[in-house]
Amino acid sequence: MRILVTGGAGFIGSEYVRMLLQAPGSTGPTDPHLEPSAVTVLDKLTYSGNLQNLAPVRDDPRLRLVRGDICDQALVDEVVAGHDVIVHFAAESHVDRSISGAAPFVTTNVLGTQTLLDAALRHGTHRFVHVSTDEVYGSIDEGSWTETWPLAPNSPYSASKAGSDLLALAYHRTHGMDVVVTRCSNNYGPYQFPEKVIPLFVTNLLDGGTVPLYGDGGNIRDWLHVHDHCRGIAMVQEKGRAGEVYHIGGGTELSNKELTAWLLQACDAGWDRVVPVTDRKGHDRRYSLDISKIRLELGYAPSIDLERGLTQTVQWYRDHRAWWEPLKAGIEPAVAG
Ligand code: NAD
Ligand code: DAU
Repeated sequence: MRILVTGGAGFIGSEYVRMLLQAPGSTGPTDPHLEPSAVTVLDKLTYSGNLQNLAPVRDDPRLRLVRGDICDQALVDEVVAGHDVIVHFAAESHVDRSISGAAPFVTTNVLGTQTLLDAALRHGTHRFVHVSTDEVYGSIDEGSWTETWPLAPNSPYSASKAGSDLLALAYHRTHGMDVVVTRCSNNYGPYQFPEKVIPLFVTNLLDGGTVPLYGDGGNIRDWLHVHDHCRGIAMVQEKGRAGEVYHIGGGTELSNKELTAWLLQACDAGWDRVVPVTDRKGHDRRYSLDISKIRLELGYAPSIDLERGLTQTVQWYRDHRAWWEPLKAGIEPAVAG
């Protein structure tokens, strides 16, 4: 099987590639049918794309890297040809950046997805796996979203992801394309760009600095280790029904205050290191996914509990200063309030 992974140099896409190619330490894909004969990574290498994320599999002869933009129709057409499956991760992914400037979000997330879908249609790609997010549903005070819940995104990021989800599903309905959509909760783990809350807080604390907690710190997120997200995507790639949406979640909800308390403890720091700052505009209060469908249909369950996963993640950032220090030095500030 020849698999094209867009955004394969980013946080989650690179975990997927490492898993497919069974990098040392990875448990690998769930089914031998998924073992790829070739994996192509198409990545623009924006600020969050990093070839070092693929270092553990760099010498695998099955891996090919193409630096390019998913909006480049000619390039996409050439790259998509000859692949059986596309797993589409490439996106602008940070909510705060979408508040500062929405244009790249609409361009990459909506137009880029449409460009890929058109190429997949022309070349008869067997399956298109569209990787999306729980944020497309907006915010939920109580209970959990099922896959049929109406979309009500609040940020430019989530609105652009909702647009891309609808396009992907429309290509299934209109053209009969084999499309599956996954929607996942908040991921954490190694190689996450240090702008998202967990790597930002951990690296600031390891550097002896402070951490900016938005608003009252009462916003709730459901945390899932990136490897469990990728295991879920592999199951959907292999066994998901065409035209369907599948939730992938961790079932481990924490308020930002609870998460911060945990990270402070893991980094031997106290509450004096926490600076309350102006809230994010349009800040979603709570995300919560019902994952019954993927559990019952595909046998999915998260395998890494939060305490173990967070402990390993903090240790990874302790051990990999050489990975994150240059990224923080070149980081462009994102505006929250
Ligand atoms: P990331 O920002 O770490 O990685 C995105 C990757 O896409 C980078 O390698 C970047 O270079 C690449 N890219 C961006 N624009 C591109 C373009 N125009 N052409 C080609 N490549 C481009 O993001 P991530 O956290 O790994 O998220 C990956 C996907 O998973 C996204 O679609 C995101 O919406 C989704 N998702 C993320 C989370 C999360 O918690 N991080 C949760 C659910 C879903
Ligand atoms: O739910 C899935 C989504 O999770 C993905 O689709 C997104 O790509 C991913 O970025 C993430 O979005 P969030 O906005 O939930 O993640 P972020 O890490 O930016 O923020 C998590 C929570 O922490 C949120 O309530 C805002 C808060 N926060 C964030 C930052 C960066 C702070 O309090 N301080 C901060 O400095």
